Amino acid sequence: MDSVNTKRYINPTFPHLLHGADYNPEQWKDAPEILQEDMRLMRLAEMNEMTVGVFSWAELEKEEGVFDFSFLDDTFDRVEAAGGKLILATPSGARPRWLAQKYPEVLRVNRDGNRAHYGFRHNHCLTSPVYREKVALIDRKLAERYGKRKSLYAWHISNELSGDCYCPLCRQAFIEWCKRTYHNDISELNHAWWTSFWSHRYNDFSQIEPPYADGDLGVCSGLTLSWRRFVTDQTVSFIENEMIPLRQLTPDIPVTTNFMGTFDGLNYSKIAKSLDFISWDSYPEWGVPGGEINEPLAAAFAHEECRSYKHKPFLMMESTPSVVNWRSVCKRKAPGFHLASAVQAVAHGSDSVQYFQFRQGRGGMEKMHGAVVDHFGGPTRTFSEVQQVGHTLRQIDEVCGTESHAEVAVIYDRENAWALQCLDGLQQDKKYLQTVQSYYLPLWKRGITTDIIDRTADLSAYKLVIAPMLYMTDDATADRLDAFVRNGGTLVGTYCTGVVNENDLCHLGGCPGGKLLELFSVRAEECDALYPQERVGVSLGEDVYSAADIVETVWPWKARAIAHYSTGYYEGNAACTVNDIGLGHAYYMAFRDADGSFIEALMRRILAEVGIMPAMPDVTLPEGVVIHERHDDTYRYFFVQCFRTQGAKITLPHPYYDLVSRTYTAALRFLSPGAIVLRERK
Ligand code: GLA
Ligand code: ZN
Repeated sequence: MDSVNTKRYINPTFPHLLHGADYNPEQWKDAPEILQEDMRLMRLAEMNEMTVGVFSWAELEKEEGVFDFSFLDDTFDRVEAAGGKLILATPSGARPRWLAQKYPEVLRVNRDGNRAHYGFRHNHCLTSPVYREKVALIDRKLAERYGKRKSLYAWHISNELSGDCYCPLCRQAFIEWCKRTYHNDISELNHAWWTSFWSHRYNDFSQIEPPYADGDLGVCSGLTLSWRRFVTDQTVSFIENEMIPLRQLTPDIPVTTNFMGTFDGLNYSKIAKSLDFISWDSYPEWGVPGGEINEPLAAAFAHEECRSYKHKPFLMMESTPSVVNWRSVCKRKAPGFHLASAVQAVAHGSDSVQYFQFRQGRGGMEKMHGAVVDHFGGPTRTFSEVQQVGHTLRQIDEVCGTESHAEVAVIYDRENAWALQCLDGLQQDKKYLQTVQSYYLPLWKRGITTDIIDRTADLSAYKLVIAPMLYMTDDATADRLDAFVRNGGTLVGTYCTGVVNENDLCHLGGCPGGKLLELFSVRAEECDALYPQERVGVSLGEDVYSAADIVETVWPWKARAIAHYSTGYYEGNAACTVNDIGLGHAYYMAFRDADGSFIEALMRRILAEVGIMPAMPDVTLPEGVVIHERHDDTYRYFFVQCFRTQGAKITLPHPYYDLVSRTYTAALRFLSPGAIVLRERK
């Protein structure tokens, strides 16, 4: 029954779930007793990994060219001796003071055109040759020194890359990017950016400027979109520069950078292609009144997206064991949420639970951020909940590397998000992510593994694709959606679909534009915005629902209406349609569902039609309890997650093997939030 071959490990030399943390021993060099205690506590918490070096540059290179690795040598020795693995970060996320002082070009210029002072972090120029050279040099030194250590599990490039720089170097790089993109032909760019509007014509590429705040910001969406694409490409090239020495010296050590979930400043699907594996930093809010569903839902969505970039397990590189320090209300995780959130990550494909941070620092702006070990230094509730997670991960270690198989995909596309942000009109807040997540909700509740993909992804493996508000559709995307449906797939599209092309130029001849018009076989004539308090009735059979925010009147052509508007001047018009085309079906939702109940009814119908079952179909779950699964050739693993403060009782149709208690059980009881992991032979 050897199923190991089908498992996919991030680092095959250590096929185990990681339980680890960002570790900053450079803050404690003068306290050897604390450094020693750290290793005892790491073992006590059943932790097997430390992420080091994230912001250590000034410690490793105190002056230009003067390297001193003693603290890191010592850290490797101690963590290794304690049986731990290390993820080594390249230090480019925060530069030393001397570097900015000597080479001001490394400092970022903001969109007002002002150069930043030295300070903060994550604020280097993406283009500066000096910064790239200095980063590559220290990366090379790190790879030479630690590349052969058996305990080195992975590389972590920089930290939470984000933002843009408007300096002359970046501007010149952008000009070159535009030349490449528009084939060195300024008239092609003028057409794509529609510069005949407001006399914005460019005579040649040298006139191009980034979208400065007091310049073209918001005027020309073609420029804005191009700039954002450029920033992603420049970030990729920054990462690739860092990778040169790592690839050369440590070809077997996998490389990642830590993403920030649904952050939309960068197009993560493009960046993902350069990485060996995905990792991300997960900071949901646990315990917001009324957030019992939305918070775990949003976290699950981001986990699924991270798995979907490579269809492989990923790492949850950071999370808090207790509390963050940067929200307007920094609420602590109530008892049980830590286990629930940890198991949730694993349920969706994470092969780790890692924290920011291991030990709270004494000073600096993150001194009150949660940590495994706080300023007290002794046993705490947080520490024992971390221990509980450590114990759980050890008991369920066999799930490491197992698969998650999705028959459904939901499209959440960053470029589409940017285009919607550029759209002046309709409603100020387009609520794109929120809308996408409202379609994910019925899937999440049922424990249906769902891939979250961008509009360029291959669709052929899915039975059902949901593409809410796909405002930007280029021909290639329309072709893929069309082929998917004609070959038997079911597609759900919504209002605001197929409005503009990849340059943000409106499709002519009706929306949803191009091929989509025939695919959905409806034409959306009027897209109306409602005031917050307005509602429009929608009837589906005997039931009445309501629309909010956005209502389209559509003219079906071959499509059948399955719901109609029942109030206002829209009364009698189709509100939701389906077109049978080729071997498949294309649904069109013409309105935004006010409370999710229509989407729930629609999804119930569609899931039955396409034959997609909940993870455990015979179990009734109270709201706030979900079951998701992973599997290998031999077993299915069920991750029962309870996000209810009042707990829950669940009866299973027959006993399952509980991996943590190592007993068979059919009666699950939660007194507070928590999680149980069950196994069943296939
Ligand atoms: C991010 C950073 C960490 C730390 C945490 C605090 O995830 O990567 O360095 O600042 O936030 O929540
Ligand atoms: Zn710059």
